Amino acid sequence: MALLVRAMLVVLVASVFPALVESAVRNYNFTVVMKNTTKLCSTKSIVTINGKFPGPTLYAREDDNVIVRVTNHVQYNVTIHWHGVRQLLTGWSDGPSYITQCPIQPGQDFVYNFTLTGQRGTLLWHAHISWLRATVNGAIVILPKRGVPYPFPKPDKEKVIVLGEWWKADVEAVVNQAIQTGLPPNISDAHTINGHTGPVTNCSSQGFTLHVESGKTYLLRIINAAVNDELFFKIAGHNLTIVEVDASYTKPFETDTVFMGPGQTTTALLTADQRIGKYLIAISPFMDTVVAVDNVTGIAFLRYKGTVAFSPTTLTNTPPMNATAVTNTFLDRLRSLNSKNYPAKVPLTVDHSLLFAIGVGINPCATCVNGSKSVAAINNVSFVMPTTGLLQAHYYNISGVFTDDFPPKPPTPFNYTSSTQPSNLQTTNGTRLYRLAYNSTVQIVLQGTTIIAPENHPTHLHGFNFFAVAKGLGNFDPNKDPEKFNLVDPVERNTIGVPTGGWTAIRFRADNPGVWFLHCHLEVHTTWGLKMAFVVDNGKGPNESLPPPPSDLPKC
Ligand code: C2O
Repeated sequence: MALLVRAMLVVLVASVFPALVESAVRNYNFTVVMKNTTKLCSTKSIVTINGKFPGPTLYAREDDNVIVRVTNHVQYNVTIHWHGVRQLLTGWSDGPSYITQCPIQPGQDFVYNFTLTGQRGTLLWHAHISWLRATVNGAIVILPKRGVPYPFPKPDKEKVIVLGEWWKADVEAVVNQAIQTGLPPNISDAHTINGHTGPVTNCSSQGFTLHVESGKTYLLRIINAAVNDELFFKIAGHNLTIVEVDASYTKPFETDTVFMGPGQTTTALLTADQRIGKYLIAISPFMDTVVAVDNVTGIAFLRYKGTVAFSPTTLTNTPPMNATAVTNTFLDRLRSLNSKNYPAKVPLTVDHSLLFAIGVGINPCATCVNGSKSVAAINNVSFVMPTTGLLQAHYYNISGVFTDDFPPKPPTPFNYTSSTQPSNLQTTNGTRLYRLAYNSTVQIVLQGTTIIAPENHPTHLHGFNFFAVAKGLGNFDPNKDPEKFNLVDPVERNTIGVPTGGWTAIRFRADNPGVWFLHCHLEVHTTWGLKMAFVVDNGKGPNESLPPPPSDLPKC
């Protein structure tokens, strides 16, 4: 009855004020609960949303208001981050713990409330505290506004594919042990596709099956929700046409292999144009340096309608683990669509030109196993998590929580990509932010270092999309390298890899007041301190100031 009344009301309102129903309110209830789960022949209790792994998909249209009530029924503190959602003037709903909010404590709840503005495509949500995102993650699907077509042929169906990483052990125990010993955390035991590892000998595990019908096209929304692993994704016998990454449309291109870092999303068209049968879907890690990684291939199946039982599966191989060239071929083809309807608004001038040297290091630690611990840093600052939310400290002018003196460039320049190690591997500690005036333009050259080991860092910026204008190997050359910047149609995204022993240059406009986290999306590096935050001041005009916090914002 209530539904009927509501439907009638919508029709009535629509006929009188057609503009009013163009956007909708999407309500979700996310209850954080433990759930016993068996994989790789072993059972453990995991933290989930609504008992699901991966968690529920959040569907909305561009311009919709999304309201998610998160109720915490587990023993851990929890927050949820809507990874890639711009959060224009809704920084209180961004979710990183101790950055924009204090955690939701056991037994408490908090309502995230934001509007999806200027974005369409695939994103993800995940827990943003400790390593809970290993099992607390899921898809965000932002459909175009009603009546607005995709800028590519309309698919017959859409499918969400969430890639993950699985430990047999309790993940919180894994990270706690690493923190206590100062050693790198144990690598995961498997990779998952929509929660399934694929068949395992002597275990009851079938793997995920993607069902398709001959002749139809499918929009695959692929999400890398892994904790520490960059992944290749491949379907035997089928090419994919990439049309969007990180909820920004791209120039379409065909590929047989997708490459994504944790936090990145790729949306692709798949046409079921092969012989009826079963085809392997495989994911495997990319690692082009000397760091240990879980090298287990995760598998699933693409199955055509009409496939007879016990048909053989058409197989495929993902690229070798260290296939740097394959990642470059994929990444270099990513370009913004940059059409009349979806222009690439690349900042052409730069108010703040920043050089961030990012990498790992070693600090003394009396209680650790070797008397030292692994750390990571930006410009030699290992970020220290505050015990109260930075956004509150900023909004209420609470002093002593952070300083705004984050170094715009490395305090002592050195040869970042030298093959010989600097004599001092130590970093400094601090909760230091970088302050930006409203609407200022920023360029960051993310410069990887070779301290301990060079490594690829998928770096994520909250609150903004940026344009990835160039990348290269070795040290960034401020005189020569800007010549090769693409300021016309660079890919627009929220997470970007910094090549092993190289650099990536990004640009964005600071048009969103608040406190915005920037960190390596390899959770191990975030834990070690590879993170910082920008504080963006209010503007002077209307709708340029951060509103007050919601009344239910958790207290620390
Ligand atoms: Cu998806 Cu701060 O992270």
